[in-house]
Amino acid sequence: MKVTVIGTGHVGLVTCVTFASIGHDVIGTDVDSEKIELLARGISPFYEAGLEEAMHTETSSGRLAFTVDAPSALREAEVVFICVGTPARADGEANLVAMEQTASQIARHAQDDVVVVEKSTVPAGTADRVRTTLQREGKGLRFHMASNPEFLREGMAIHDALEPDRIVVGVESARGLDVLRRLYAPLLEAGAPLIVTDIRTAELAKHASNAFLALKISFANALARVCEHADADVTTVADIMGADPRIGRAFLDAGLGYGGYCFPKDVAALKHLSERFGYPFPLLGEVERVNDEAVAAIAAKVREALWNLEGKRIAILGLAFKPDTDDVRFSPALALARLLLAAGAHVVGCDPRAASGAKEEVPELELANDVYEAASGAHALVIGTDWTEFRGLQLAALREVMTYPLIVDGRNLLDPSDFVGSGFWYYPTGRPPVIPEPSRSGGGVDGSEPASAPRQPTPLW
Ligand code: UDX
Repeated sequence: MKVTVIGTGHVGLVTCVTFASIGHDVIGTDVDSEKIELLARGISPFYEAGLEEAMHTETSSGRLAFTVDAPSALREAEVVFICVGTPARADGEANLVAMEQTASQIARHAQDDVVVVEKSTVPAGTADRVRTTLQREGKGLRFHMASNPEFLREGMAIHDALEPDRIVVGVESARGLDVLRRLYAPLLEAGAPLIVTDIRTAELAKHASNAFLALKISFANALARVCEHADADVTTVADIMGADPRIGRAFLDAGLGYGGYCFPKDVAALKHLSERFGYPFPLLGEVERVNDEAVAAIAAKVREALWNLEGKRIAILGLAFKPDTDDVRFSPALALARLLLAAGAHVVGCDPRAASGAKEEVPELELANDVYEAASGAHALVIGTDWTEFRGLQLAALREVMTYPLIVDGRNLLDPSDFVGSGFWYYPTGRPPVIPEPSRSGGGVDGSEPASAPRQPTPLW
């Protein structure tokens, strides 16, 4: 089928590559000519595992092309996917200006009987607005509206697109459904479950899914606070909860909380939409509050451990909002860096992929090339992102270069048992800290080695 994708950001570009790889002829278009120029040269404007390789394969097969000329890309299309950005306004409402502009472009240039699919995450009811624009500006154009939300995780996007755990299709005509079924035929034949519904339900399901995942994370973070006071271990509590299939273990990891381009924006948009309907959905406000508090709690923990922050050097390992991406948008690690800088600390960060993006966002941040350079002279080291690369920290080498042997684990990445007897002060999140025996104690009562069990935590706020 001939597919045109409008908007070549994270979602749009992965959509282009996915449809090309299952045999369709795809044209990706974007108003950003620099981005299109990069794509035409085979370069992805952002890092996504496997994306650039897949782009090369599909462009050389002739199934995938990019252009700034949206009118020509639209003229041939049987199906148009709208993948433009829907950022949050200051009050949380989704900004749908790009959606409207795209609808108006489709109205002017698409061929008759085109299927117009929203893939951007939008508030329920947006398709009605798109439809009205198409009617007003389309001069008799016949079209079929549909919604087909994506559930792609950054860093896993190609996998998630090709092996989806559900394909959601919101339609209002038999032709809309037929076209989407044919489009996804190879994935459906491979066993991907298809859920067919009305458009508003499909739109709402995407916001609901992201808001619920954010809620799970905030639940884990609220629980972490309680665990710290109760001397309990939030990770084990989450394991026990997660063993119940009705709950599930995923997204119950406590730490600095969620960030990235989707969760903050989607929770805010669903809250705003509900308020507009007269239902304020206070649960979502609480999800946001707990998430903001998660960063503040880690900053407070660093301050508590270091006494005064003025003049202290703090290393943050990991600046991206999560591992395996160079994305720093709404990164909790950067939110932490800002808090520590505002409190007078000197903050140095490192990240396998996101260092330069982080520097653009927080210019006061000093960048280091690797963990040990970041740790050099540091009074504390904070795990900001759970990159696998940081799991293998060499504690002895760190101890050599750090001013104080002190680690605050904002992602519960490290194993507390590795710190027993290491001489480090190790403060995880929602788990008992491991702190060295006071040297004057001389070990146990019988003069033996200090106890190896993690020490009783000191309340940190
Ligand atoms: C998310 C959704 O998962 C995806 O389905 C949707 O299409 C887009 O938004 P993404 O933004 O790539 O994907 O990030 P995700 O992997 O979901 O993680 C979001 C944030 O939550 C990260 O900052 C991560 O570190 C944090 N997180 C995740 C936790 O703090 N604890 C957890 O247990 C899980």
